[in-house]
Amino acid sequence: MQVLDLEQFAKPPTHVAIIMDGNGRWAKARGLPRLAGHQRGAEAVRVVVESCCELGISYLTLYAFSSENWKRPPSEVDDLMALLRHYLRREISELHGNNVRVCFIGDRSPLADDIKSLIDGAETKTGANTGLTLTIAINYGSHNEILGACKNIAQAVSEGALRLDSLTEDVFERFLDTANMPPPDLLIRTSGEQRLSNFLLWQLAYSELIFMDTLWPDFSKRNLEEAVSEYYGRDRRYGASNG
Ligand code: FPP
Repeated sequence: MQVLDLEQFAKPPTHVAIIMDGNGRWAKARGLPRLAGHQRGAEAVRVVVESCCELGISYLTLYAFSSENWKRPPSEVDDLMALLRHYLRREISELHGNNVRVCFIGDRSPLADDIKSLIDGAETKTGANTGLTLTIAINYGSHNEILGACKNIAQAVSEGALRLDSLTEDVFERFLDTANMPPPDLLIRTSGEQRLSNFLLWQLAYSELIFMDTLWPDFSKRNLEEAVSEYYGRDRRYGASNG
């Protein structure tokens, strides 16, 4: 009798979040400018989006620019913004054609007007799509997100729109940028660094964390499959015992 490989029937993680790290080191190792690493990183974004669609993952959230990344040299910030602009101009139609819903989290207010318009346009154009939800975090930082939620909650309470004793975890989550999105099942960080860097701190409370040495520009479908396979082997107990 043929033995069934149960893993092929395992449900993929619903939500994968990725800290895309190592673009600079990838470029340095080749004697190239950091921009070349970011450009290859943008190509890896294409690969991972396609791979998530193929694997049946419903949500992919990518950390593209943190609220701390403004501390980089202005020329690198400009390069990253230009790359983002280029990606939004070039990829949205294809993403839309592939039924991908594109969303953004983070504080948009300091972004250039044309990038804000591209973001709004992408969300409007793809908002009714029913395939992968691709969320791109730009000028995102969890501390700022949680603080903003607290301020909005305080305002709602002071206006009588929310009663303090009805403030549950579920209600709190509705004030986060990720309202209406399930928490990540799996977080991947590339490049060997093992920290969260102010990414989705509330949402990652019970996620499985996988740190891999691969530098982001080298990230392939195979790397995603390896991470998902390791995820299948994890015993998610959410604080309960397994006995
Ligand atoms: C971290 O590598 C990467 C970033 C800060 C930027 C991530 C951006 C992209 C992958 C490309 C654009 C994104 C989209 C969605 C089109 P690093 O520069 O910190 O690398 P290092 O630690 O090796 O220096």
